[in-house]
Amino acid sequence: MAGLRLCVPISGRGSNLGALIAACADPQFPARIELVISNKASAAGLALAERAGIPTRVFDHRAYSKRSDFDREMTRVMEDMQIELICLAGFMRLLSDEFCDHWRDRMINIHPSLLPSFKGLDVQQAAIDAGVRFSGCTVHYVRKEMDTGPIVVQAAVPVRTADTAETLAQRILVEEHKIYPQAVRLIAEGQVHIRGERAILIDHKMPANALINPLPNG
Ligand code: GRF
Repeated sequence: MAGLRLCVPISGRGSNLGALIAACADPQFPARIELVISNKASAAGLALAERAGIPTRVFDHRAYSKRSDFDREMTRVMEDMQIELICLAGFMRLLSDEFCDHWRDRMINIHPSLLPSFKGLDVQQAAIDAGVRFSGCTVHYVRKEMDTGPIVVQAAVPVRTADTAETLAQRILVEEHKIYPQAVRLIAEGQVHIRGERAILIDHKMPANALINPLPNG
């Protein structure tokens, strides 16, 4: 199966890229990573792509005087490769309005909180500081305002009293690696329809049970 043509932009370790590469290794998976891009030549995730035989490109943002020039060059390369969906995976650059408009409804992101709570950086510490009992991760379409846009999939994890930002991040990351491929699959299968600012899932099983933290009988 050829599948939906993906580009995955990264800036760092690339564990979500790794999860997407693993999913795409299944010939039945309805998407293929055609290109991995990074704004940093040192991004560890680039090696994962190379090992999987996926073309990589480094766009050093420091070589561009304007953000819009950097974004335009990325768009040109991705359009040349007929990319159909951009899956941001720890890409640490703000994107121009023009870029967001160009790729509207064709670009998703993964964020380590239950959006719309805890946007931005250091969100695990922010969740601990706020005393919430659950945090998690969100795959969402990208809009101009950071960490906004129609939500495709979320996973909730408990926040424990002894958690540090690191232990919570680790618990969330395990779920990120499940829901990012799941979201890509849903989109590639045509199951996600954007209506207004909601992503509606067609004909999908949803959990019936509630999660309570702490356990009621604990
Ligand atoms: C993840 O926590 C993701 O949610 C956030 O950036 C981090 C990237 O991690 N957007 P990795 O590079 O995929 O390991």
